Amino acid sequence: MSAMMASMMGASPGTSSSSSIASTPSIPSQPSSLPVRKIPGSYGWPLLGPISDRLDYFWFQGPETFFKKRIEKNKSTVFRTNVPPTFPFFLDVNPNVIAVLDVKSFSHLFDMEIVEKANVLVGDWMPSTKYTGDMRVCAYLDTSEAKHTQLKKFSMDILKRSSAIWVKTMVSKLDTMWATIESDLSKSGSSNIIPPLQQFLFNFLTICITGADPSTSPEISKAGFALIDTWLGLQLLPTVKVGILQPLEEIFLHSFQYPFWLVQGGYNKLVKFIEEEGTEAIQRGEKEFNLTAKETVHNLLFMLGFNAYGGFSLFFLALVNALGDDQNPGIQEKLRNEVREKIGTDSSKLSFEAIKELELVQSFVYETLRLNPPVPLQYARARKDFKLTSYDSVYEIKKGELLCGYQPLVMKDSKVFDNPENFEPGRFTEEKGQELLNYLFWSNGPQTGSPSESNKQCAAKDYVTLTASLFLADMFQRYDSITISSGSITAVKNAN
Ligand code: HEM
Repeated sequence: MSAMMASMMGASPGTSSSSSIASTPSIPSQPSSLPVRKIPGSYGWPLLGPISDRLDYFWFQGPETFFKKRIEKNKSTVFRTNVPPTFPFFLDVNPNVIAVLDVKSFSHLFDMEIVEKANVLVGDWMPSTKYTGDMRVCAYLDTSEAKHTQLKKFSMDILKRSSAIWVKTMVSKLDTMWATIESDLSKSGSSNIIPPLQQFLFNFLTICITGADPSTSPEISKAGFALIDTWLGLQLLPTVKVGILQPLEEIFLHSFQYPFWLVQGGYNKLVKFIEEEGTEAIQRGEKEFNLTAKETVHNLLFMLGFNAYGGFSLFFLALVNALGDDQNPGIQEKLRNEVREKIGTDSSKLSFEAIKELELVQSFVYETLRLNPPVPLQYARARKDFKLTSYDSVYEIKKGELLCGYQPLVMKDSKVFDNPENFEPGRFTEEKGQELLNYLFWSNGPQTGSPSESNKQCAAKDYVTLTASLFLADMFQRYDSITISSGSITAVKNAN
């Protein structure tokens, strides 16, 4: 492990596993003396139950209210329900799940002794493998599959090697992003942050993850991020609430899977680009990890497009919005002061090492992830019969049953987080804040955990939080403040 990587991993806060807060959830598989209770809730009549739940989920209630109402009705954070997609064209999909909506019951999703994760990234339904080169890529594999070990190690190696160019590449691509935003501001007084942000993420992440530089291809450089947007959108539509006029959304977006051929041309362009420009990473996949060239290319594209670009696009938007005065008045001044005091305004001083000093910036990043986990739903299937423990009861789970956790609610568990609905920028500072990191789960594992081939935690767990901290530090080196409202920047005040 390079010195830089070692220091970067050291920068991941909260590696202590001590947990002294009163309501510490215990390790799931420990025997419990709590009463065994029948899992409340029901799946309803065949066809009708799943359809009714689907309409509530997408239309009448929306995901958060859907789960909240069922907690109230069942007087339990563990219950049976259906989740989409369902009838009419998802007949072979079983929508029955057991929802786990508090920190303690949700933690069972990380215990690979009792759950398995084959093909359950987005639930019982899985998008066609045509979207991923006719193969199951890493995120769909269970830890018991040898290929998962090879691919997880490959993904962590990719990140480790890229750490040498990560910060430099990021800052240089941020120069372009902020120049575009400033140009928009001078022309029209407002800049929608999404296009420049996505362009930045695509260019930066493509170089760091695949080694291919989009600037070698004018077409990929200009349109690469839009190709990924459509590829992502089309495969995930049956599971995502979009918010267009109903019942049009139910009829056209949630009733069937869009065929891959609609995005095939764009995807093939990205494959060709990686094959031609990402040769070093491909050769490493073949020689050091015993993968085929095809496996390497499609896994690189999935990591780039789905894991990294998809995750960061949602996360950075939430991060920028959380800086708005309407959400967190006065926070920019506090973050700026910390950045200027600890690092100053010289961008060459930005490093993973330097970010370790920014306690409030990192806490702000964690709090944004707590309230806006970019991957809100997590699933896992019972590997065997086992007993699932919540705070007041134990439930018997049968082998093969699917558990479903909705993180935006789990991360508001009042037994763990004080004032759980409030955005508290400093929540994760000091000793108590460090302990709370044991219960921050955005990466499919605790923030104090470590991704490995024997678990399904995000390979980039530390890179994601440090990259977000770097993004904020860079911003407050450039600007005294930005004015932001609903995803649009309307002013920036340059640093003096
Ligand atoms: C904000 C950005 C990101 C978020 C929110 C995110 C989130 C997640 C989550 C929740 C999972 C687990 C999904 C599940 O099994 O239920 C996951 C898995 C994974 N992520 Fe990330 N991720 C992000 C960025 C990245 C990046 C930059 C990479 C690497 C290049 C990456 C690589 C992976 C891989 C390889 C897996 C599969 C792990 C396994 O199969 O064991 N992610 N990510």
